[in-house]
Amino acid sequence: MSDITYRFATKDDIELVYDFALHALASSEIPVFAADVGDGIQERIMEGDVRNLIVAEDLDEEIIVGYAEVDPQESGRILIMGVFVLPEYRRKGIGKKILQMILNEICTNHEDLYVRAFTDHGVKFWQSYGFDVQFHVMEYKNP
Ligand SMILES: CC(C)(COP(=O)(O)OP(=O)(O)OC[C@H]1O[C@@H](n2cnc3c(N)ncnc32)[C@H](O)[C@@H]1OP(=O)(O)O)[C@@H](O)C(=O)NCCC(=O)NCCS
Repeated sequence: MSDITYRFATKDDIELVYDFALHALASSEIPVFAADVGDGIQERIMEGDVRNLIVAEDLDEEIIVGYAEVDPQESGRILIMGVFVLPEYRRKGIGKKILQMILNEICTNHEDLYVRAFTDHGVKFWQSYGFDVQFHVMEYKNP
């Protein structure tokens, strides 16, 4: 596999992040990504604390292939707002390395982590790292 580096996003990443968002938009999970994470991501990079957003960059291809964002508002525990790895880069340990960076670089006071899991493979991913399911959201499609 290509050389992947993990780092906080910077304001110079706006174009790379835009390309990443386009790739992600093309994937079938996009309703979740767009609604909960992708919206306004560039604005948040420009205006926010860039330590809230971690990117995985393929240095050979010069593209962002994965990212995770945490909520800066929380204290005591850290909410992961979203994590996304491009489909062709999945199951190579990228998501896990991003999670390790959150733990090492953001949870410096041993804060607990929580996340809203929207997809089945998301649930499996979190569980593989030791996250427990805390509650279920039920929906009734009114005919
Ligand atoms: C969830 C996601 C971020 C995982 O990223 P990834 O880089 O593929 O994850 P990793 O390679 O680090 O996987 C670590 C472990 O998680 C588990 N896992 C990850 N994807 C899985 C899947 N599709 N099915 C079952 N287990 C899975 C496995 O135990 C895996 O270890 P293994 O490959 O050695 O078996 C990625 O699939 C993704 O972006 N999905 C779309 C967006 C999404 O669902 N985000 C989560 C929303 S809450």
